[in-house]
Amino acid sequence: MKIAILGAGGFIGSHLVEHLLARTEHGVVGLDVTDDKLRGITGGNFTFVRADVRSRSQVEEVIRRADVVVDLVAYANPSIYVTSPLEVFDLNFMQNLEVARLCIRHGKRLIQYSTAEVYGKAVAGDAFSEETTDLVVGPIHRQRWIYASAKILLERVLYAHGVAGDLDYTIVRPFNFVGPRIDYLVPAHAIGGPRVFPHFMSALLTGGPIRLVDGGRVHRTFTDIHDANSAFQILLDRRITARDRNQSAFKADTVGEDECPDGEQRVGDNVKGDEETVVTSYHLVPIGALSVSSITACICST
Ligand SMILES: NC(=O)c1ccc[n+]([C@@H]2O[C@H](COP(=O)([O-])OP(=O)(O)OC[C@H]3O[C@@H](n4cnc5c(N)ncnc54)[C@H](O)[C@@H]3O)[C@@H](O)[C@H]2O)c1
Repeated sequence: MKIAILGAGGFIGSHLVEHLLARTEHGVVGLDVTDDKLRGITGGNFTFVRADVRSRSQVEEVIRRADVVVDLVAYANPSIYVTSPLEVFDLNFMQNLEVARLCIRHGKRLIQYSTAEVYGKAVAGDAFSEETTDLVVGPIHRQRWIYASAKILLERVLYAHGVAGDLDYTIVRPFNFVGPRIDYLVPAHAIGGPRVFPHFMSALLTGGPIRLVDGGRVHRTFTDIHDANSAFQILLDRRITARDRNQSAFKADTVGEDECPDGEQRVGDNVKGDEETVVTSYHLVPIGALSVSSITACICST
């Protein structure tokens, strides 16, 4: 299989490339404006295309030649959401929409990375149901929410295409993935710049203060990037199907869909005619790591 990874030069992308080259026989084409984080990753069948996702002809050619397209291109840094909200909307929504349209045009499967931020201000203490809980984001003047809003809108468009039957997609909603090559260290007392984990690491290394939102009472979920790779492999291999939402702790070894501890399935209201599986179901997805407390949620079209 040939896998195109758009945004391959980023944190998640560089780890996916490394994982796929080391553990699979798949051909991988990575597209990004930078390959800094890919340095030293060798072996296997890998081609790098240095290009902006806006260069339509180059991107279309990469997609046309692929079997599966993994779209990781985005501004994924909260400081940018506030300083450049329009650029966030353009890249994270408009450009990714074009990628989806190219996948539709060429009949390619799309694995689209969204974000757990789509959950927004989920009410603390209440059980969250992905089918019934409203997605609540902050007011318009809080510009940071443009990131989640763009991702939500993209998810809605992909979902609609899935219902229309013209796009085979999987949406991944990562929580905070952490590991080597995530961003960069900053001086003590720095504000903005990298994401939260490098700030914590920088503070530990420099003896600087660890700044905590809301006095540290907020909860976050961190997932080791290698566990995230294992989860990706399950999605790639389609070891879960339908519009699955998965979240939970995982135990070692593979469990087939039929064996999912909570694999109850219900046909959704929007099943059309002979559409095969518009099904919602919950799964505990094993990713072979006991350390993971929570992992990506995902939604698939088929
Ligand atoms: N890392 C996480 O914990 C996390 C959490 C939630 C969601 N996500 C999502 O996962 C995806 C990847 O995240 P990441 O952590 O690897 O981010 P990243 O910033 O490390 O990687 C994004 C990559 O996209 C590339 N890119 C940006 N603009 C481009 C353009 N115009 N043309 C081509 N390439 C361009 C960047 O050069 C970068 O290499 C993003 O969609 C992000 O929103 C990540």
